[in-house]
Amino acid sequence: MARLPPRALTALLSLTPRVLASPQDRAMTTTATQPAPSTAAAPVPCNNSPDLCSRAYNNITHMGAHDSAFLRDASTSNSVAGNQYYNATIALSAGIRLLQAQVHLSSNNTLELCHTDCRILDAGPLEAWLARIKHWLDANPNDVVTLLLVNSDNQPASSFGTVFDRSGISTYAYTPPSSSGSNQNTITWPTLQALITANTRLITFIASLPSPTTSDYPYLLNEFNHVFETPYNTTSPSSFTCALDRGGNSTSVQTAISAGMLPLLNHFVYLELTPDIWIPAASAVDATNSPSETEVGALGRHLRDCMGEWGNNARVVFVLVDFYDRGPAVGAADRVNGVGEAVGRVREPAVASSRAVRVRGRRRFFGGGAEVVVGVLLGMGWATVVFQERVGVGYWVCLFFAVLGDYLDMEGGREA
Ligand SMILES: *[C@@H]1O[C@H](CO)[C@@H](O)[C@H](O)[C@H]1NC(C)=O
Ligand SMILES: *[C@@H]1O[C@H](CO)[C@@H](O)[C@H](O)[C@H]1NC(C)=O
Ligand SMILES: *[C@@H]1O[C@H](CO)[C@@H](O)[C@H](O)[C@H]1NC(C)=O
Ligand SMILES: *[C@@H]1O[C@H](CO)[C@@H](O)[C@H](O)[C@H]1NC(C)=O
Ligand SMILES: *[C@@H]1O[C@H](CO)[C@@H](O)[C@H](O)[C@H]1NC(C)=O
Repeated sequence: MARLPPRALTALLSLTPRVLASPQDRAMTTTATQPAPSTAAAPVPCNNSPDLCSRAYNNITHMGAHDSAFLRDASTSNSVAGNQYYNATIALSAGIRLLQAQVHLSSNNTLELCHTDCRILDAGPLEAWLARIKHWLDANPNDVVTLLLVNSDNQPASSFGTVFDRSGISTYAYTPPSSSGSNQNTITWPTLQALITANTRLITFIASLPSPTTSDYPYLLNEFNHVFETPYNTTSPSSFTCALDRGGNSTSVQTAISAGMLPLLNHFVYLELTPDIWIPAASAVDATNSPSETEVGALGRHLRDCMGEWGNNARVVFVLVDFYDRGPAVGAADRVNGVGEAVGRVREPAVASSRAVRVRGRRRFFGGGAEVVVGVLLGMGWATVVFQERVGVGYWVCLFFAVLGDYLDMEGGREA
């Protein structure tokens, strides 16, 4: 190192910040059997581990944040419609490598990140969010990130492509080789190292693109041509399954996997307030996201059960969780990926303590789930009286919850 000319050293530092910042002992022992593809003396981690570089993209479990743009934090007045305590940038730094969100067409004709309806939770324009993720990719040149966007208002690929271009993130977009557009499902996925070397470190799935899809944006992949999902409408931790719910044309998991479809586990629980109103079950999330392989409803067990049930060394490629920082969920992915010690992760910042202390005082008064019950009764009573019909109930109860949630600061972020 010391004999490198200063300019070469600077270049090396800018290329491999993580190697130089992390302990090398384990990395040194692996160089003999797995030669590093880079010119550095020790292997550079890919997605937080040197062991993942040589693995194919579809031979890795990518931990994902469900509804990653919809926050339950100060920016949304702690909306109970929020699914995450921390934003996508913080999630990526903490090890999350799959970001899912819903995209709606807003009243001014822009693609907007909205939860169910832009009146319930509007997280801003898709373009601004993509630009922030691009910024993270700029700063983290050895990481591969996957996006999964729900096309709620059935917008064409060209609308998404325009926004991807304007945000700048399309420079990182990966297009499968000899792709006939987004409808090709049998892809021989490259290794993480190949994606990193080509600097095509962003894989994008959209659910779904209206057909016919244009070939102008072949990196926008139709999710259900490539991915199948387990059920997403779970209301009890004991009812997670490994069954195929949607995606592809197969009726069994085995045929879907042999057809090259990538499995996605939906691993989050809703609290069903009324048949129409479901909110993320935040109070149970420590158990839900636990890496435990024995507890019913735990993330570790769900992963282990599915890989066992599907057989033939099947791998869960994607997982979506709510409140990803709890568990922490990425621990369960590390275990199935065989990653003993992840490198380069940054823990979430703690929530300001003055607010947390104030909130704890209020919580003692209300206790456990009392605020939920009070909110439902008041919100429904109000909506029924004012509107005298059920149609508006869902919307008004959600709004009511947002206000109530702010006051009570239910389940705030990690407290200092
Ligand atoms: C997936 O990666 C593991 C660990 O490196 C390896 O043993 C296995 O053969 C790989 N599977 C495939 C299908 O390449
Ligand atoms: C997340 O928050 C940080 C700190 O406020 C900010 O710099 C970053 O741009 C945010 N990222 C997203 C995706 O909103
Ligand atoms: C469109 O409206 C949304 C709010 O619904 C706002 O966040 C966004 O900045 C607007 N975009 C333009 C281009 O005016
Ligand atoms: C499912 O069938 C439809 C209609 O035949 C076809 O367009 C689509 O590509 C198929 N999807 C997969 C994943 O094979
Ligand atoms: C989830 O959806 C499936 C299929 O549509 C349905 O059979 C099941 O009852 C639903 N579960 C809940 C808890 O609503």
